Amino acid sequence: MAELRVDCLDPDEHFFIRQFPEQAGIPVILTIRRIMDGGYFEGGEGARVTLLSRGLAFAEADKRHNFAYVDLEEDLEVPGLEEAVRTFGTRIIRSSHNLENVGDITGKIKNLRRIGDEIAKVVVMPQTLGDVLAIYRAARESPSIEKIILGMGEFGANTRILAEHLGSFLSYASAEEEPGIPLGAMGQMTPQEMVEQYRFREISATTNIYGVLGFPLKTSYSPQIFNSVFNREKIDAVYVPFPAHSLDYFLELAEELNIMGASVTVPYKEEIVPRLRHISESVRIAGACNTIKVVTSEDDFSEGNIYRDWNGTNTDTLGFSESLLHFIKKKNFRSLKFTILGAGGAARAVVSEIFRLKGKCLILNRNPVRARELALKYGYKWGGLDSHVLDTMERYSDIIIQTTSAGTFPHTDDDPFELYHFNGHETVMDIIYNPPMTAFLKRAQTAGCNILNGFDMLVRQAKYQYQYFFGRDFPEQLISHLAKTLQG
Ligand code: ATR
Repeated sequence: MAELRVDCLDPDEHFFIRQFPEQAGIPVILTIRRIMDGGYFEGGEGARVTLLSRGLAFAEADKRHNFAYVDLEEDLEVPGLEEAVRTFGTRIIRSSHNLENVGDITGKIKNLRRIGDEIAKVVVMPQTLGDVLAIYRAARESPSIEKIILGMGEFGANTRILAEHLGSFLSYASAEEEPGIPLGAMGQMTPQEMVEQYRFREISATTNIYGVLGFPLKTSYSPQIFNSVFNREKIDAVYVPFPAHSLDYFLELAEELNIMGASVTVPYKEEIVPRLRHISESVRIAGACNTIKVVTSEDDFSEGNIYRDWNGTNTDTLGFSESLLHFIKKKNFRSLKFTILGAGGAARAVVSEIFRLKGKCLILNRNPVRARELALKYGYKWGGLDSHVLDTMERYSDIIIQTTSAGTFPHTDDDPFELYHFNGHETVMDIIYNPPMTAFLKRAQTAGCNILNGFDMLVRQAKYQYQYFFGRDFPEQLISHLAKTLQG
C-alpha cells in the first residue's frame, strides 16, 4: 500500500488528492502530518480538517476509489468526519508521535483507540537500545490490539525491519530523500533497502534474528553480506543493526527477541568476553571476540526451563591472515617483519595471527603504554607514533598494517602516522574497508607500495561467522557479487 503525505505536496497539488487512490491502484493511507508530529504541514487545524474532508468526500461505492485508511492524531476531534469515513469503509489509524523519547508505550497502545475498529499507531524516538527494548516489550504486552509501533532514528531502524516481530500491521519506507524533505533523518529506509537488502516480504514473526552489535554502526557492510547469503541459501533469518551504548541493553534485548547470533564490533569486542560461557581458542589468544551465538540448555530440575547462554569466537584472526597471505602469495609470515599501527582490539587479533604464523612485529600506538602491553605478550618491539621509532621502523617495514580507527567516517582525512614516509617497497594493509581508500593507503599507493584494504578481510571473517552460526560453508559464488555491489 502507499501513504499519501499531503503535507509533502505543493499547495496546487492539493486539488488532486481525492483522485489519488484510484490513480495509485493500491490501498492508500491519507495523512496530513503537522510539524509538531514530525511532518511539514504549516497551516492551522481548520485548514487541515478541510483538506482531510476534501480527500475523503464524495465516497464511492467502489471502495478502491476511496482512501483505504486515514491517519488521525490522538488529539484531533472530528466526530462528523470519522462517522462518515467509517460508513464508507475507510479505516482510522489513530496515531501518537513522541519525537523526544519513548514514554509509556504500553499505556499508549492500550488507550489510544476511541473505538475498537481503529488501528493504534505509536511512533516514538528511542535514544538508546534500552528504549528499543521497551518498544518490543510493549508490543508483546498488547498482542490482541491491532497496531503499528515503531521507533524512529538510528536506534529504531530494527523496529521498521522487524515489524512482524512487533505484531505491527505495517511498516513505513520512503523514497530517496528529496531536497528539503529529509525523511531519512527519521530513520526511514527506501523500499529497495527494506525489500531487497532486508527481505522485508520474507520476514515473519518466527524468522530467526541475527545482527551486529556495536557503536557507531553507520558504515557496516555486515547486513548486506548476511542478508544476501540468507536470501541465496533460503535461510529463514534476518540480520539487522543493533547500535548500542551498553552491552547490557543488547543482552537483554537478545533475550526478549530470541536473537540467535551476532557480530560484535567496536567497542564491545573485549567487553563481551567475560560474558561468554565458552570461548574459542582464537578468543583466548586474541583476548577479543567478534562473533557470538546462543547456546540453550534446560535446567537440572526437569522443569523444562530453557536457559540461554552465549558462546564466542574470533573470526577477525583467520579473516586477516588468510586475506594477507593470499595477497602476498605466501603460506606463512616466516622471515617477514611487520609494523602494526594501533594496539586496540583489532590489533590484538592481527598480532596474534602474525605470531602464530611466525612473523616479527614492531607495534606502534598513539598511547605507547597499550603498545607495550600488547608487545610484551609476544616478546615484540613497541613504541609510540612519534619520530623516535622511525629508525626501528625502517627494519620492520616489509609489511605495514594499519589497525587504528583513524581514516573512518567522519574523519576520513585522518592519517595515523603522517611522520612516516613510505619508500615504496612496503606492502601496506589498512583494515578499514569503508572508505575503500583511506588517506594513509592513498599515500602508500602514491609512493608505489602494494596496497590492500580491509574488504577482503571483512568478507573472509564473515564467511567464518556464517560457518560458526550455521555449521555450513559460505557460498563462494556470492563473494565476487558482493565485492562488485559493495566496492564498485
Ligand atoms: P579496535 O577494536 O578497532 O581496535 P579500539 O580497541 O578502541 O578499537 O582501538 C582503537 C585503536 O585506534 C587504538 O589503538 C587507538 O589508539 P589509542 O590506544 O592511543 O587510543 C587508535 N586510534 C584511534 N584514533 C586514532 C587516531 N586519530 N590516531 C591514531 N590512533 C588512533
